[in-house]
This record gives sequence, structure tokens and C-alpha cells, in this order.
Amino acid sequence: MSEHKNEDKKVVLSGIRATGNLHLGNYYGALSKFVRMQDDYDCRYFVADLHALTTHPDPGMLHENVKEILAEYLAAGLDPEKNIIYVQSDVPEIAEMYLLMNMHAGIGELMRTASFKDKARKALGITSDSDEIEREICGNQTNRQVNAGLLTYPTLMAVDILIHHADFVPVGKDQEQHLELTRRFGRRFNSFYKTDYFHDAVNFNFGGDAVKVPGLDGSGKMGKSEGNCIYLIDDEKTLRKKVMRAVTDEGPKVPDSEPTEPIRNLFTLMELVSAPDTLGHFRSAYADCSIRYGDLKKQLAEDILKVTLPIRERILDIRGDDEYLSRVVQRGAERARETAARTLREVREIMGIRKF
Ligand code: TYM
Repeated sequence: MSEHKNEDKKVVLSGIRATGNLHLGNYYGALSKFVRMQDDYDCRYFVADLHALTTHPDPGMLHENVKEILAEYLAAGLDPEKNIIYVQSDVPEIAEMYLLMNMHAGIGELMRTASFKDKARKALGITSDSDEIEREICGNQTNRQVNAGLLTYPTLMAVDILIHHADFVPVGKDQEQHLELTRRFGRRFNSFYKTDYFHDAVNFNFGGDAVKVPGLDGSGKMGKSEGNCIYLIDDEKTLRKKVMRAVTDEGPKVPDSEPTEPIRNLFTLMELVSAPDTLGHFRSAYADCSIRYGDLKKQLAEDILKVTLPIRERILDIRGDDEYLSRVVQRGAERARETAARTLREVREIMGIRKF
């Protein structure tokens, strides 16, 4: 319904799970984009604490993690005056709409989602395909790790987005399949109830491709569960140590050869944090086989620290200020609930749930 579109500004919505400190993947895949978008769009950013429950965090730690992400949002430059900043569980309309949307989400499509398969494989200790995952899940009724919340994770994420009628969802590459499902659920709802209530939301990358920040261990992406992260909160010594320990290879033997994956990853990190001529210098050194990986790593650590140290200082300032943090999210929840309550009311009505 076009009345939901703010004619002046496009709506931006995104969130990060409350599962620990933010790393460079979260920063370049999401948070730095949140900050860059805040002046030009109607932005709503939240801490996804309900999504964090799918992996059963320690109850004593969950609230600390929510506070930490919040402090890191603010420290990275998100301004509560310009954005609606809230905690997912403070908006109960999300939970109700999640129940309603689950009526239109197919178990088959949820089971085929890459993130579900990855988590299920890890929990079940298997490496193979969907059929085996299904057999294992159905055959092992005591396994509570692969819970229904994990399966319906994409429905909850779709609701986060649809409840705000978002246009743009700045996320890293790993979340694109979830965005695709969000569009699918929105369109399915429209066609089932013969309405044009929801519109498509898309990723946002300032015209570039979706970002995948690699880890320092030679392969794959940077991720908390991979244990290969550089955190925004890392102190100088820890950070330098991590970068100096990054996996490399024996060095190029033939001029103009293709870098191996570990080296490509270091160049990818450098592309994000270093000046173009610094990157150019090391790329040519690689091409003519004169590169010294020690120098490359030293420079990389230096350039990462330029980004992370100022943020770290602000995190340390903000994280203890409970009063400020709670003021930000209370106001944020009030504002987020205005839209959420309206969407939920309209969705209930479209689905035929009416008040007497
Ligand atoms: P989460 O908490 O796993 O990650 C938060 C954000 O960080 C990005 N990211 C990366 N980007 C590039 N390279 C990496 N190595 C990397 N690692 C993480 C993720 O793409 C993401 O943008 N389901 C979401 C949270 C969520 C959400 C939403 C996001 C819940 N509801 C609604 C947007 C809209 C998640 O688990 O992200």
C-alpha cells in the first residue's frame, strides 16, 4: 500500500544479532553502511536479541550482549537523533506478526535455507546434504539444538523488515538469501490476500556489490563461530598479534601469478582499510615477486587500527553509561512501535482477525 511509503525518504532497516562483540565483517558488511546512510534516509536499526535466542545464549550474558552491541552502534557513529535505535524484543508486535507470517512460510523452503543447513550440520555433526539433515532431525528427537526457532529464523527476519515496510536493508553478502525469502514472503502474502500491501526490500551497497569480509585463517568469511575475527574492541597489541599471525603461503614464484586464497583475503582486507596506493604498492610487489608478507601485515594492522582504535575508545566511554543507553532504546522502542503497531493492525485485518 503506497500510503506506507514515506514520500520524502526511503525507509532503511537493519539489525545485528546480540551474540558478542562486533568484528570487521559486521562493520564493513553492515554497521559502516548504517552510519553512511543515516543522513539521507529514514533509518531504523535494532539489536536482534530474539534471533540470538536460536543458539541458546547464557541468560546472564544476553542482556550484556545487547548493551554491548548498542554501545558499539553508538560508538561507530550512529546518532539516536537521526535514527530509530531499538532492541527487537522491546517491540512485541514483531513476535505477534512472526506468528502470523509463519502461517505462510513453507517448512521445505525454510529447511533449504543455507544458514539453517549450516547450523543444523554443525549441531548434528554431519557434512552432507539436505536429505541427511532431514533424516537426522526426524530420527533424533532428543536433539534440541536444531530447534524450531532456528528453522523459522528467516520468518522472524522477514517480519523485522516487513513490519517497517523497509525499502533498503544494508547487510553483508551472507544475508542475501534471507532477503530473497523476505521478498518471497511479502509477495506471497500479497497474492494470497489479493493486496499490494508489502513491497520488495533490497540490499544496499552504495552501488557496489555486497561485501564478504574474509577471516585471517586463510579461507572463508570472518565470523564469530569461525573464531577468526578482528573485533572493533580489540586493543592495539591483540590486533597486531592477530594480523601478524594471519595465514599466508610461501610467496609468489612466478611473476604475475594469481594470488592464493589466503593472500587474496589479505588484499581484500586491505581494499577495505588502506589507501588505494598502499594496496597498489603491495599488489605490484606481489606481481614482481618482491613482496614481503611481514611488511604487508604490518601495514594492514596499522590501517585497521586507524579505523578501529577511535571506535574502541568511544565504546569504552559509552558502555558503562546505562542511563544513556536505556534512554536511547526506550525512545527508540516507542518510535519503532508506532509503525509496528500500525502494520500489525493492518496485517491482522487483512488476514481476517477482527476485534469485536
Ligand atoms: P549477523 O548478526 O550474523 O550479522 C550482522 C551483519 O553483519 C554482516 N556480516 C558480514 N558482512 C560481511 N562479511 C562478513 N564476514 C560478515 N559477517 C557478518 C551480516 O551480513 C549482517 O548484515 N539475520 C541477521 C540479523 C537480522 C537482520 C534482520 C538483518 C535479524 N533481522 C533484519 C537485517 C534485517 C544476522 O544474523 O546478522
